Amino acid sequence: MTTITYIEHDGAEHVVDVEDDMNLMEGATLNLVPGVEGMCGGICSCATCHCYISEEWESRLPPISVGEESMLRTARHRRTASRLGCQITVTPELEGLRVDLPPEQGADDA
Ligand code: FES
Repeated sequence: MTTITYIEHDGAEHVVDVEDDMNLMEGATLNLVPGVEGMCGGICSCATCHCYISEEWESRLPPISVGEESMLRTARHRRTASRLGCQITVTPELEGLRVDLPPEQGADDA
């Protein structure tokens, strides 16, 4: 188990233990963390697992794949720190990771 802190846009924190080899989206949805939907079940086709991860963790994360980049382009409130939670597998190296959540999930219609 790896302890992950999910932080809602209003600052509410949810500290949960996530089974290793699950992804960040599964860790949030299985622990009923508000603000993460995971509508596509983790196949990188909805962007409702959008989250922000600070630069200090970047070296411990897998690089953004072409598919993830493509979906992130559709996400509302995208920032340089944006990632899709379903594309990040939880490992012991992520112990203590803090995951910020956007104000809302979904595609940018504009
Ligand atoms: S759960 Fe759909 S893109 Fe991550």
